[in-house]
Amino acid sequence: MNRWIKELYKNDELLIIDKEIDTYLEIAHASYLEMKKENPKALLFTNVVNAQNGIKYTTPVLTNVFGSYKKCKIVFGGEFEGVAAKIDGFLKLKKPKTLKEKIAKLKDILSLRFVLPKSVAHGECQEVIYDKDKRLDEIMPILTTWKDDGGPFITMGQVYTKSLDGGMRNVGMYRLQLFADNTLGLHWQIHKDSNHFFHEYKKAGQKMPVAIAIGGDPLYTWCATAPMPKGFFELMLYGLIRKKRASLVKCKSVDLEVPSDVDFVIEGYVDPTKLKDEGPFGDHTGYYTPIEPYPFLEISTITSKKNPIFYATVVGKPPIEDKYMGYATERIFLPLIKTTAPDIVDYAMPENGVFHNLILAKIETLYPGHAKQVMHAFWGVGQMSFVKHAIFVPKDAPNLRDYGGIVQYIAQRFDFENMLITEGILDALDHSSDKFAFGGKLGIDLTEASPKHRSFNDISNDELKSILSSKIEGIKELCCYLENTPNKTVCLKLQKKERASEIFERIKELGDYFKIIVLFDEKNNDLSNPYMLFWRVLNNIDAKRDLFLDKNIMMVDATKKTEIDGYDRWWPNDTVCEREVLENLKKKGIVEYDEEFLKKWQIVDF
Ligand SMILES: Cc1cc2nc3c(=O)[nH]c(=O)nc-3n(C[C@H](O)[C@H](O)[C@H](O)COP(=O)(O)O)c2cc1C
Repeated sequence: MNRWIKELYKNDELLIIDKEIDTYLEIAHASYLEMKKENPKALLFTNVVNAQNGIKYTTPVLTNVFGSYKKCKIVFGGEFEGVAAKIDGFLKLKKPKTLKEKIAKLKDILSLRFVLPKSVAHGECQEVIYDKDKRLDEIMPILTTWKDDGGPFITMGQVYTKSLDGGMRNVGMYRLQLFADNTLGLHWQIHKDSNHFFHEYKKAGQKMPVAIAIGGDPLYTWCATAPMPKGFFELMLYGLIRKKRASLVKCKSVDLEVPSDVDFVIEGYVDPTKLKDEGPFGDHTGYYTPIEPYPFLEISTITSKKNPIFYATVVGKPPIEDKYMGYATERIFLPLIKTTAPDIVDYAMPENGVFHNLILAKIETLYPGHAKQVMHAFWGVGQMSFVKHAIFVPKDAPNLRDYGGIVQYIAQRFDFENMLITEGILDALDHSSDKFAFGGKLGIDLTEASPKHRSFNDISNDELKSILSSKIEGIKELCCYLENTPNKTVCLKLQKKERASEIFERIKELGDYFKIIVLFDEKNNDLSNPYMLFWRVLNNIDAKRDLFLDKNIMMVDATKKTEIDGYDRWWPNDTVCEREVLENLKKKGIVEYDEEFLKKWQIVDF
């Protein structure tokens, strides 16, 4: 970790903050604000306290390590495309023809020797051994990110597990809640590999060994987030990218191995017959996730390096550090995606769609229904199946990351006949569906669509607002988008007091004025901020429940759902920073902001 800190510092990508700062909200808020800047820095906090428990730490806290393309390039040792090309090379084992190709192939084949991790006898991560009953937050500065979080959480933990028969190893990154009795909640979601292992132990009536590593080479942590298929140990990917075998050391009290150079290791066992209420936690969707029962770790040993660094990330509304971690995943996994869908030319999962809420894909279609076939393939395999909304365009569409260009392209072509609504599994964090981890999916296939023409009655926004106000109660504001396209879209802020279907019945004759109308709640929505409006819509809708269609008009209900909508789960609040904490940080000279900045990124309630 020290090596990466030096590397980031040398490249002007790291700020050192030596003013006193608290693990309760302060570090998280400062790191979060930093991620909203144009060129965010990694932050190293060297004077960390937990005022509530009267603790002053000698261990610094490091955040935002992946928080820019430049920082990712430093950590990955080059462009992601290089890694993707290497993976692609292995997947397409073509016979080399020229001498140059033969040398390149030989190099590739030789690099396979780095894939298998090696075992070493000693690890720096075991230089210090702590009393297992010592409270974790006395040993390491664990952060509380949001006011309504259930407690402090380790947010960059690499969670090492193995299958019951020991044949498969896994590392996944899952948040870890520190409970009052010094156990750790293991938030491995229902679809994840460790959860599958957990069920093997549960069936066999055996305790499950778990080792949590924090820190070391940041690439370990990214590998723990990589959506590798079950049975593929993620540290093999580490070896391939780093061109160096991962060195693993045996844990002290459980039969598992962890990278020898990580900063902290927490070992223990999970009793599969016991669960604890985990959460709430303000997650990367920008919403809190509710309290749910999860397994927990009973600690058997804690070790660390002599001078460890505590490594953490902060999640919340986009953009956050996972924007860049997700981008790395997106680029590196393109060749693997092509093994299921060879005609995919490119894809993008924008961060304001929080990755699993939207995929944009370019495809070269070869037969009728080709794009829909691939949508179904995505919705059926691995972690791509969490994706709620998929928009497919042909290969000559604008670059998928030219968001202005691609939105215009879609708006010129979209019609209801291009839509496919189905249902399937959802990310466990999704709150829109009235069922846990299962709900509506929307596909939009524009691969055969040509530009359409449709014009609308030319009236002012005030006139339109007054027409709509005669049909809908509680309208506060109105804003129009895509006005010169056949998909003129009206965004409405309102206090919704009735079922969306009843509203739609009264406005479905208004197709002369617009094609699409989107309903937003009054609180925390700024109709002039399309980045955050997209974020809100993609989070809040379940395509099966919240899209209302008639001949030439569509309504999208992006408001919070309640019993009147037939929704009986807990609808979460947005993650927002505490004003008081921000002001305090400003006074100490740790952060700078103005009201416009806070509003742009919806950092506080408004
Ligand atoms: C910042 C961050 C936090 C994450 N937190 C969790 C979490 O709490 N639970 C979870 O199941 N996945 C979480 N993930 C996603 C997993 O790390 C990812 O799905 C990974 O591929 C899981 O590995 P597995 O398939 O080997 O279980 C998180 C990812 C990131 C980038």
